[in-house]
Amino acid sequence: MKKERILITGAGGQIGTVLTQALRETYGAPAVIASDIKRIDHNAGPFVVLDILNRHRLEEIIDDYKITQIYHLAAILSANGEWNPLKTWDVNLNAWIMMLEVCRLKGIRKIFYPSTIAVFGATTPKEYTPQHTSLEPTTVYGISKQTGELWANYYVQKYQMDIRSVRYPGIIGYQSMPQGGTTDYAVEIFHSALKDQHYTCYLSRNKHLPMLYMPDAIRATLELMEAPESSLSVRTSYNLAGISFSPEEIFNEIKKSIPDFTIEYKPDFRDEIASSWSHSIDDSCAREDWGWKLEYDLSKITLDMLEKLSQINT
Ligand code: NAD
Ligand code: SER
Repeated sequence: MKKERILITGAGGQIGTVLTQALRETYGAPAVIASDIKRIDHNAGPFVVLDILNRHRLEEIIDDYKITQIYHLAAILSANGEWNPLKTWDVNLNAWIMMLEVCRLKGIRKIFYPSTIAVFGATTPKEYTPQHTSLEPTTVYGISKQTGELWANYYVQKYQMDIRSVRYPGIIGYQSMPQGGTTDYAVEIFHSALKDQHYTCYLSRNKHLPMLYMPDAIRATLELMEAPESSLSVRTSYNLAGISFSPEEIFNEIKKSIPDFTIEYKPDFRDEIASSWSHSIDDSCAREDWGWKLEYDLSKITLDMLEKLSQINT
């Protein structure tokens, strides 16, 4: 087992639930401290309640557990963020700057910071979006994450910290439910297909977005964090392409396994958010710098999701 003491913020969320387990397999359960603003009940290791806006509590936890690395997942996602923009800025950006400063002062160099396809905006090329491109996001979530990327880069350049980041596409997984994002439909659709054989989709039928299956997302995170520091050329956040598809395409894929499955489209405000994001992504920097390679395409994701959710439900 590797000798690190890791703090995860937002560990009760869609990604944190799975990442905590993966890190515990690598570093040992006692070395991985899960935290969240809400108590997690499915937790098999150390857990502390932490509101990331509470600097005093953050410092106390870092000292008590002798933390050496942080995975800073806590955030308010794109759709929920629009209901309370100033709170979202506080949680997503002000708390991040505070985290960077606390880590700098306490000598913690290595931090994982998840960014997102929401940093892209109306002026970003929609197809095969390059690593270095126009970033004019329109949601408060996208603005906060894009600014957060720049602060990460600033602390790397100015204070020689080792902050690593990927722009996750929408994440699909069977282990946990997404909360308040624009890409949540791509998880909900599987649950509805199995339960009701019908899904009402809040995006329009041809809205292409990049998505990534949870095992790929977790592997990307761990591989990036393990890569030699000297190999990393992007210190804002790496593009990750994942696999791009529309609601209609995933519906047709699920229908191959569940022929009676039906769908209707009732686009809401999330459809407009999705319209501002990229359709597909160029992730050649991630592939060249740290050997990133996608494993799950749409067909593999669909079969695995249906199989795993069926097992959970029986
Ligand atoms: P999530 O919304 O499922 O989980 C976020 C967690 O943060 C929740 O458990 C919530 O309780 C916690 N939280 C919220 N406010 C907090 C606060 N003030 N203090 C402490 N904890 C707080 O999010 P997720 O989908 O697991 O995403 C994790 C990270 O990955 C986020 O930073 C998100 O921006 C990024 N990301 C996720 C996706 C995705 O599709 N899931 C895509 C791109 C980027
Ligand atoms: N899945 C996230 C969202 O929809 C993208 O960061 O908000």
